[in-house]
Amino acid sequence: MADTMSWQRVRGAPDSGAVIARTSDLPEDGTLAVTFSGKGRDFPILLVRKGEAFAAFLNACPHQGLPLTFRSEDVTTADGQRLMCSNHHAEFDLLTGEGVAGFGQGCALMRIPLSLDAEGLICVA
Ligand code: FES
Repeated sequence: MADTMSWQRVRGAPDSGAVIARTSDLPEDGTLAVTFSGKGRDFPILLVRKGEAFAAFLNACPHQGLPLTFRSEDVTTADGQRLMCSNHHAEFDLLTGEGVAGFGQGCALMRIPLSLDAEGLICVA
């Protein structure tokens, strides 16, 4: 099961209400790596959009802790249905972060809860 709280213990983690990006920053089906620096330390976030559904994860692969985007910004499978770490190809559910294949099996990305406001801002819930 995805751990939805432990990201808050990572240094630099944004507080509830912090703005991460705008919905228009993401392609309709795609990802965007951003860095939140509002608390004096870089906190890497991987945003995912699938149609009108959005998700955010700490951009750190549970396999070795590297950013999923370390070797490439392209971190989805060819069919666009899963996230795939650019390092050793661990695969994760696009919206829940559950590990589903390779080094992702048995673990999960740290999911950051989101809220979207009427002006298209993506914020930490
Ligand atoms: S660091 Fe992601 S699969 Fe190894």
